[in-house]
Amino acid sequence: MGQKIFQANSELQDWLLEQNSAIIFIPTMGGLHAGHEYLIRKAKETKNKRKQIVLVSIFVNPLQFGKDEDFIEYPRNLKKDAELAFNAGADAIWSPDYSQVFPGGENSHFKIQVPEALNNQLCGAERQGHFDGVATVILRLINIIKPEILILGEKDWQQLIIIRKLFHELSIPIKIKSFATQRDQSGLAYSSRNSYLSDSEKLNAQFLPKAIETAKKEFDKNKIINLNKIAKQIKQKNLKIEYLKIVDAFSLKERENVNDICLLAAAVKCGSTRLIDHTFLMRRKPIIAIDGPAGAGKSTVTKEFAKRLGLIYLDTGAMYRAVTWLIQDKSIDSSDLIGIKNILKDSKLDFKNSNSNSIEQRILINNIDVTNQIRTPEVTSLVSEISKHKLVRELLTTQQQLIGVNGGIVAEGRDIGTAVFPDADVKVFLTASPKERAKRRYLDLQKRGYKLSSIEDLAKEIKERDKNDSERKIAPLKKAQDAIELVTDGMNIEEVLIELTYIFRSKIPEEVWLTPNL
Ligand code: DC
Repeated sequence: MGQKIFQANSELQDWLLEQNSAIIFIPTMGGLHAGHEYLIRKAKETKNKRKQIVLVSIFVNPLQFGKDEDFIEYPRNLKKDAELAFNAGADAIWSPDYSQVFPGGENSHFKIQVPEALNNQLCGAERQGHFDGVATVILRLINIIKPEILILGEKDWQQLIIIRKLFHELSIPIKIKSFATQRDQSGLAYSSRNSYLSDSEKLNAQFLPKAIETAKKEFDKNKIINLNKIAKQIKQKNLKIEYLKIVDAFSLKERENVNDICLLAAAVKCGSTRLIDHTFLMRRKPIIAIDGPAGAGKSTVTKEFAKRLGLIYLDTGAMYRAVTWLIQDKSIDSSDLIGIKNILKDSKLDFKNSNSNSIEQRILINNIDVTNQIRTPEVTSLVSEISKHKLVRELLTTQQQLIGVNGGIVAEGRDIGTAVFPDADVKVFLTASPKERAKRRYLDLQKRGYKLSSIEDLAKEIKERDKNDSERKIAPLKKAQDAIELVTDGMNIEEVLIELTYIFRSKIPEEVWLTPNL
């Protein structure tokens, strides 16, 4: 493919046309460093059905600099940047001049105005017009490039949130992926502006990340954060604080208490150089809720997803099935609430991993391994009826909440995002058409050697179970209002996992949960 550097828009367009590939686009202002290098490497690793190319743009966007800011001094060294980008795996670089991006000149192009709620915070409050300039140029660049994926760094978290919101609101069908801030050995986050620092300033600058990291460690230990103490540490080193705040990581609203994912963010002046840094605060590890109707393929993908994330996998359906098996085994009528109560009050449910490095679980009720028995058509046909009962739901919901009390869990079921973990960080409603689900159930039963009903009968059964699950009074099957719906018709397992990963990453930054398998 070669390593191409384009200046003219028209040449770039001709080349892109020839490539006929999905474009993964990394917009930069140049001054490339190890942070950009990481983004390029990650872009290169993207799993894609189509042939893909990684395109890096280098454009020092005047719109995002204030009057007294460093537009003139900003590092510009195309040769050095190109070397770094190509070594990291970029296929091409586009380095347009102003007139290529804004052909009409300064006063004749549309400008984006970022909504106040996101703009009047953190860097936006300090740098008037900065994010309007960023949003305006990004919109221009993606309209010229038409990428499939846009890659941004988590270092500029506010920028990332604003661009995500912009794409969402304008229904721009481009995926945005973000990757973690990279740091040098001293902990200082890489930034093109670090090149302005003298040696002695560099020594002082380290104390910004050090203070933030110490605060995070303290928070993880005792859930307390003391902004005054952090400010005092930072100020000791001649760093002048522009802001130091805790905000909700997504709304950017200021927070006193850390309930959802929060950002502890700071901007300081070190000499005349402005530096920003942050960390994320979470009161527990992430919780991922995957709900949806029968046969949507939840179990297969949830299990694999939990494994890739290195989190606990919880199949709540298996718990309802185990209880149903016990009630059936003891010949208790499904409407005999006293009988059910009596048998359940002395029963014990346990999950065990099949072997130490497997995510495959066995489920035991009263020490009897019922992993296979709970999948029989007899249990399947009764489980909805049993799971309607308040006493059954209360018992199992409490157990599920206990398993997830410290987070770090991927739970699948019907009511995880609505009733069991309403504060889950990621909520997915995984579904497929009844026809597709019946087909999958058929293949699954066939694989497990059961006598088969027709696909039509299975579809009927599935519809019946959906109806029961959705219409029951307590914790019915329903998409949580903040869940993302994923319809999996025509998708294979790996494709669903790619989508799940994308949804997960839009809610949980790589800086919070880094795993090599994603
Ligand atoms: O996901 P599954 O097919 O194994 O679930 C079996 C049944 O259990 C389902 O039809 C309804 C019930 N269930 C529930 O009521 N709430 C959950 N969180 C999970 C399952």
